[in-house]
Amino acid sequence: MKLSNLLLGSALASAVPSLAHPGSKWKETMVEIEAEIQRRAARPANGPDDSSELLGDLVKPGPSTQVGKDIAGILVGKVDAQSDEQIRGKVAQLGSDACKKDTCCVWKYIADEMLQKFKGRSSKCNKFARGAVRLGFHDAGTWKKGNDFGGADGSVILTNEISARPVNRGLEEITAVTKQWYDKYKQYGITAADLVQMGANVATVACPLGPRVRTYVGRKDNARLPPDNLLPEPTDPADKLIKLFEDKTIKPHGLAALVGAHTTSQQRFFKPRRALDPQDSTPGVWDVLFYGQTLNSQAPRRILKFPSDVSLSVHPRVKDEWREFAGPGGQEHWNEDYAKEYVRLSLLGVNNINSLQECTKVLPPTSGGFDFPNQDVIDKWLNGGFGKSGQKVGEALADALPVDNSTLQSIGVDPKDATTPANIEAVKREARYITNLPTEGL
Ligand SMILES: *[C@@H]1O[C@H](CO)[C@@H](O)[C@H](O)[C@H]1NC(C)=O
Repeated sequence: MKLSNLLLGSALASAVPSLAHPGSKWKETMVEIEAEIQRRAARPANGPDDSSELLGDLVKPGPSTQVGKDIAGILVGKVDAQSDEQIRGKVAQLGSDACKKDTCCVWKYIADEMLQKFKGRSSKCNKFARGAVRLGFHDAGTWKKGNDFGGADGSVILTNEISARPVNRGLEEITAVTKQWYDKYKQYGITAADLVQMGANVATVACPLGPRVRTYVGRKDNARLPPDNLLPEPTDPADKLIKLFEDKTIKPHGLAALVGAHTTSQQRFFKPRRALDPQDSTPGVWDVLFYGQTLNSQAPRRILKFPSDVSLSVHPRVKDEWREFAGPGGQEHWNEDYAKEYVRLSLLGVNNINSLQECTKVLPPTSGGFDFPNQDVIDKWLNGGFGKSGQKVGEALADALPVDNSTLQSIGVDPKDATTPANIEAVKREARYITNLPTEGL
């Protein structure tokens, strides 16, 4: 999906600083800007495969407040779903009258505490961040059109949803952490539903290159187990996924954008034998490498591709969009689309959208420049280096530790074991995007 040309200027302006990280070249920046202009000129603002339906009370009675109008604009693709809005001045003390009067005040304390939990020493985001993003998906995703409960209602931490539904395996740790936050902050009037979605948005921007998704609070809780079979499985074929998400108002391009969250992940339960193998070469980084490497038959051997992602990447209603994300200008395009689709996802089943309040300003700033430290060591691991110690390297990455010699030694891994010749061609990321994609369709 594309924003109107009105927004072109600002998107290009924001593209430039994020490309100024070490390793990128001005020429590449120009190539990306050129591609962005062509991309935006080539397609109408909304096609049949772009999400554009309104949700909840925005359908009937319709948008009646400024927030309702903003969100309606985001849902139809006319308003940017990312924002740099920051808090100016001092935040009132937690528990004070001034803090109680300002809806976003307590959220600033929560977001700061979340950020601490989501970052590791390497400055990448860690397993808790990835868990928080997935938790946000799994709470909100349990809704489809026509259902009058389920969705972003906090049930994922207010019921036994995690243990009752095998699809939620792996979310135990982040659920426990989120419950602790809920117990600590519920005295200040927050809902579990908002807490789960705030967690997902803080986690996303905690990952280098992650978008700053506009963030709303005021959802209502419902401690009721939602209907089953509304979440995707990693083995689902594309046609099944497309139907599942269209029932939630999320069209194929939106689905393509949302599954890109796998860019940061390291699976554990799909193939337990390969626990902590990532879904692209840069776990903990919100880049577009996932899209290219899912298509790339020569991706390093430790990259574990979910059959669902592989199936989507070549589906006729998805593949062009997927390649755009993988290609030049893909990072900006994807961030824009992901933010839009995540605002939508985070409001599924919510029927008081007009009365929400925006608290985007409490999010941490985006982490710009990122130079992939120790990526050469990670690439060797991805190609089979470190032999039996490979699991420990996976754990270091899950904790977002820098994979340098001193970390390796401290976890009992001999840096010399990283001797397997890396398949350098397959993991080249100097240009941030895969250059050996077939050009057809790009
Ligand atoms: C890390 O250890 C390896 C293997 O002993 C060595 O070749 C390399 O130079 C070391 N790197 C640094 C930065 O010390």
